[in-house]
Amino acid sequence: MGVRGWGSGGNQLTRPAEKALKALTDHHCPKKPLLLSWFLFLLVLVLLVSCYILSSPLLQWDIHPLQYYHRFLNQTRRVNLPPLYRVHPKHRVKPTGMYETTERPTVPPTVAPTGARFHQAYPRNYHFIMDNQEVCKTETPFLVLMVPVAPKNVAARDAIRQTWGKDSVVQGQVVLTLFMLGLSGGADVQEKLRQENLQRHDLIQSDFMDTYLNLTIKTMVIMDWLATRCRSAAYAMKVDSDMFLNVDNLVVMLQKPGIPKVDYLTGMLMWNRPVIRSKNSKWFVPEEMYPEPQYPTYTLGMGYVVSNDLPEKFVEVSKSIKPFNIEDAYIGMCMKKLGLAPTSPPNPSQFKAYNHRYDRCEYSKIITYILGSSQQLVEYWRDLKKPGPPC
Ligand SMILES: *[C@@H]1O[C@H](CO)[C@@H](O)[C@H](O)[C@H]1NC(C)=O
Ligand SMILES: *[C@@H]1O[C@H](CO)[C@@H](O)[C@H](O)[C@H]1NC(C)=O
Repeated sequence: MGVRGWGSGGNQLTRPAEKALKALTDHHCPKKPLLLSWFLFLLVLVLLVSCYILSSPLLQWDIHPLQYYHRFLNQTRRVNLPPLYRVHPKHRVKPTGMYETTERPTVPPTVAPTGARFHQAYPRNYHFIMDNQEVCKTETPFLVLMVPVAPKNVAARDAIRQTWGKDSVVQGQVVLTLFMLGLSGGADVQEKLRQENLQRHDLIQSDFMDTYLNLTIKTMVIMDWLATRCRSAAYAMKVDSDMFLNVDNLVVMLQKPGIPKVDYLTGMLMWNRPVIRSKNSKWFVPEEMYPEPQYPTYTLGMGYVVSNDLPEKFVEVSKSIKPFNIEDAYIGMCMKKLGLAPTSPPNPSQFKAYNHRYDRCEYSKIITYILGSSQQLVEYWRDLKKPGPPC
């Protein structure tokens, strides 16, 4: 009886549900196409959006989003670099979407690096034209700032000379700033450089062709100079010419207890970055040049610091490392080959890349920021150094 009662009760209970179902299928029949069309609409929307994303040149799926962000901004900021870094208009990829306002220097696939062309990153294949080798003999620097810059970019050098390259003593330590150049332009450019160096004694020049694709050579020549002309320095930094550098904070950081005196490479660390294999990317590296799918851990090229025993080791080990045109990742490769790895800075947030706006308090705390122009550097520096607490 209980069961029957249950059963009947159950029957009774299911009746409203049945009714509802019936109602849905019978009476609400008119709503069915409406639901269906909503569904179809959403489906089409999703399809359209995915099609757009997949075809968009802004998103390359072989690049990690963070790397993409860096690389994207890296190429947009190249707009501020001198014409030397720009590719001939006929090689430029037609700008689309977000790129519309930027001139993208791109590597035309025909000039894409091939093994032989880039085989020459070993710095001792080149010769110094200017080397200012006395600068490290008269004094023993604590820190040497090495700035790769295009020969014609006098404006960037002058801005640095008035700002972070100005003081030869920072926090009681000797700091030296030098510019690294290759060859470009004719005899007139060369003569101007000679004059500039006579006056400033801060140019290092070597006889390789100064081009964007030769940045690895430039970096390795920096390492060679440090190893052979300035071995007595304690630390060195490779720092791009469009950077804001808070030298005080850097010297303070390097004097912190526990900062290694040897085998030390620090900056903004990049982990597990995939090698870019799409042929029309500026960072394309063919498999025969670099077979692994990812780069070893490296420090972003905008500015990285080394203990000054490392340059000599990089030069030595580079004999056995096939060069490729991504200079910062190449240094990462040298580290790996040496059985070493980059170290996070004591406060990683001091190595900043892209800034949105100037903030005096913020700039008083950081070590690096990428800037848009030499004028910005001069303005921000002047503001930071004015009297009164920055925060
Ligand atoms: C790089 O420099 C070498 C040596 O000066 C030169 O032969 C080569 O053409 C340069 N490569 C590029 C792509 O500029
Ligand atoms: C941009 O890329 C070049 C090499 O491709 C490197 O030398 C430079 O330091 C990079 N800048 C940043 C901010 O990563």
